[in-house]
Amino acid sequence: MYSLRFLTKHSSSSSFLRHIRLMSNVPENTVYSGPTPQTLNQRTTLTQLRQKYRNSKPITMVTAYDYPSAVHIDMAAIDICLVGDSGAMVVHGHDTTLPITVDEMLVHCRAVARGAKNPMLVGDLPFGSYESSSNQAVDTAVRILKEGGMDAIKLEGGSPSRIVAAKAIVEAGIAVMGHVGLTPQAISVLGGFRPQGRNISSAVKVVETALALQEAGCFSVVLECVPPPVAAAATAALQIPTIGIGAGPFCSGQVLVYHDLLGMLQHPHHAKVTPKFCKQYARIGDVINKALLEYKEEVTNGSFPDARHSPYKISEADAEGFSNELQKLGFDEAASAAAEAVQKLNATK
Ligand code: KIV
Repeated sequence: MYSLRFLTKHSSSSSFLRHIRLMSNVPENTVYSGPTPQTLNQRTTLTQLRQKYRNSKPITMVTAYDYPSAVHIDMAAIDICLVGDSGAMVVHGHDTTLPITVDEMLVHCRAVARGAKNPMLVGDLPFGSYESSSNQAVDTAVRILKEGGMDAIKLEGGSPSRIVAAKAIVEAGIAVMGHVGLTPQAISVLGGFRPQGRNISSAVKVVETALALQEAGCFSVVLECVPPPVAAAATAALQIPTIGIGAGPFCSGQVLVYHDLLGMLQHPHHAKVTPKFCKQYARIGDVINKALLEYKEEVTNGSFPDARHSPYKISEADAEGFSNELQKLGFDEAASAAAEAVQKLNATK
């Protein structure tokens, strides 16, 4: 145990923690990597994020829900990867984020942790998993780190009980990202997916709530769907980074949903899902649709698979021997099918 003498010598609790870190034989990086196996990859740490923030370098954040999206985010050197409960909508096809469960979130978290070795990993606490009490909130947050391999959690809202829960989670040793403005888990009381901060009292509330979350120990706050001047005010008032989504350019960083920014759900049936504020950097949905139609056409007309995509060979001598053997066994049709296959594949070479 550390004595009081030690604490007074190291005047503040933060320098005390820094000192423990220096004495630890575990590299700082591993502290942020959860239960996943340690590799040489360097996870973005809170220290690095703070440095970016202090140097006014914009922070990038993108959501991911599975191994391939996580690998792409990793390769693009995005700072923070959020396993968002938006997965309820863009992956599971629900109309809101409400139905997704902790167990479902954990499956997404683990897949993302396998794919994204470098970004800081933040996992959303889903609706119904943290509102009842601080104990419930801490228990869920612990699962997201321990079982999901995340480095931090995000929770929505800033009611007094939410602030208490955020503080309890931070005190349990888990980094917390707040989320104010449009908080999709609260659409029942917000009356739908509605932008916030569009009148004086609502705008002041956005700033006050963000400040309360900072006071509770949050390392960053997402500002969703608020007018740019409100986001600018919150960003100026806070001493932690703000991450905007539909909140204009005056935030410390930006986040978008993977499927939205890639234009994944391009099929007319799904286009309605992409929000107005989202810039589509690609139309991957079009590419997917085209590829699937081409695949269907080629299977239907017999041009796929051709010899090039039938890589497992049997020599012509063995194929002939195989045919003869089948004939001896009385499988005449099978024997001719094997012989014909050799001829047909040779013709497509
Ligand atoms: O779940 C999510 O994707 C989010 C972002 C919109 C910030 O919370």
